[in-house]
Amino acid sequence: MQRKIGVIGGSGVYQIEGLQDAAWTVVETPWGAPSDEILTGTLGGVPMCFLPRHGRGHVHLPTEVPFRANIDALKRLGCTDLIAVSAVGSLREDFAPGDMVVLDQFIDRTCARPASFFGEGCVAHVSLADPVCAALSEACARALQPTGATVHRGGTYLAIEGPQFSTRAESNLYRSWGCDVIGMTAMPEARLAREAELCYASVAMVTDYDCWHEGHGAVDVAQVIAVLTRNAGTAKAMIAGLPDLLGATRAPCPCGCDRALDHAVMTAPDR
Ligand code: ADE
Repeated sequence: MQRKIGVIGGSGVYQIEGLQDAAWTVVETPWGAPSDEILTGTLGGVPMCFLPRHGRGHVHLPTEVPFRANIDALKRLGCTDLIAVSAVGSLREDFAPGDMVVLDQFIDRTCARPASFFGEGCVAHVSLADPVCAALSEACARALQPTGATVHRGGTYLAIEGPQFSTRAESNLYRSWGCDVIGMTAMPEARLAREAELCYASVAMVTDYDCWHEGHGAVDVAQVIAVLTRNAGTAKAMIAGLPDLLGATRAPCPCGCDRALDHAVMTAPDR
């Protein structure tokens, strides 16, 4: 089967470089318009699609990101593998600004976002026990190795609604829950990718220590942007390394991501 890699760029990643035959494409979905046009092209012989999650110019609040349209649009374009890139705050001392985290778990505290493609007569419950594709996550970790960045394999992401950063009490609460990083966008994206039977990996760049750390002040946007700017090359180098590591064809997913709905639909087929 032909592979097509979709990349969802977060804060600081608004395009990918080196794409051949690059073109921004309008995609319509039953869930409305995605965050922006989608940049399509080929990288290292592998078809790629790129979608800036907040739109070019960073115009969508986390709550306003049309997550269902984004996943649907990438699926419609034929993406088989999705790599999501985002900026996060660290909830632990040893995850420092500039570090990269290949996430493997999420806790969802968002509360104002449609989180499923199902409903209105069609009921399905997919498993989220392992919410990312382990094989694709491994490829991301390997693609990060040559960048020289400190890479943490595995990490639990606490998703908040935002747009405000957390209170100090919240930040300490999330630390007590064992969460490693905090952000505003990985959910419901990961849920929807699973429902769409896409392999999904989520790679986060640490930009700050949120507000729990006594040796650092409260987080602000200037700090986040400064770290993103200093390390902009890291996520881009990871993306550039993926086509070679993944190849242009793919077998059925060893984790079963591409068969997530096989035993998930409860609604009778004749309804
Ligand atoms: N994105 C980057 N840093 C963050 C933080 N501290 N909290 C939530 N989202 C973030």
